[in-house]
Amino acid sequence: MTLHGAGQRDATARVVLIGVTGLAVTATLYFVGRAIVNTNGYSTVGLFGQTGVGVLSLKSLLATIALGLAVVQVLLALWIYRKLPLAGRPPKRIGLTHRIVGGVAFLVTLPVAIHCAIAYGVKLTDPRILVHSVAGCFLYGAFVAKVLLVQSKRLPGWALPVAGGVLAVLLIVLWYTSALYYYNGYSVPI
Ligand code: HEM
Repeated sequence: MTLHGAGQRDATARVVLIGVTGLAVTATLYFVGRAIVNTNGYSTVGLFGQTGVGVLSLKSLLATIALGLAVVQVLLALWIYRKLPLAGRPPKRIGLTHRIVGGVAFLVTLPVAIHCAIAYGVKLTDPRILVHSVAGCFLYGAFVAKVLLVQSKRLPGWALPVAGGVLAVLLIVLWYTSALYYYNGYSVPI
C-alpha cells in the first residue's frame, strides 16, 4: 500500500517511535551489562548442567542453531515478498510460520545471552568482545522493535524488511564473534 501526506507522516512518526523504543531497550541492556561486568577471567557460571568448556560448546551450538533459524527467516521473508527465485506463490500459512520460527530463534538465544550477561556482562576489553557485547544488546532492542513493527498497521514498506535484515546481521555478527571464534581454535578469521 502507498501512503500519502498525513498518513505518511504518521507512519514515519510510528517507525521513529518504535526505533527509539528499540534503542532504549539496547541502552538499558548496555548499562545493566556494564554494571554487572565480571572481571574474574573465565566464568565459572554453569548453563543447563554444563560448566567450563562444556558451556562454551553448548552456547556455541545454540548460537549456531539461532544462526540457522535466522537464515530460514531470511528465506521465508524473501518468499513472502516474492523475491525468492523459483519459489512461486507463497503458501497462506507462511506468515505464521515466519512468526513461529522467529519466536523459536528468540527463545534459543535467550539462555545464551542470559549466561553471557551473568557470567561476563558487557565487556569492552578487546575489539571482538566489544563488538560481541554491543551487538548482543542491540539484538534485543532490534527484536523488540521488530515485534512492535509487526503489530503496527500502515507502515512504510521498507520498515519490516530493514528491521528483519538488521536482526539477521546482528545474529551473524554475534555468531562470528563467539561461536566461530570457538570453532576456529580461539581466533576469528577476520
Ligand atoms: C546482552 C547480550 C550479550 C552480551 C552482553 C554478551 C557478552 C559476552 C561476553 C563478554 C562474552 C565473553 C567473550 C570472551 O571472553 O571470549 C560472551 C561469550 C559468548 N557469547 Fe555473548 N553476549 C550477549 C549475547 C549473546 C547472544 C545473543 C549470543 C548468541 C546467540 C551469544 C553467544 C555467545 C557465545 C557462544 C559465547 C562464547 C561462550 C562463552 O564464552 O561462554 N551472546 N558473550
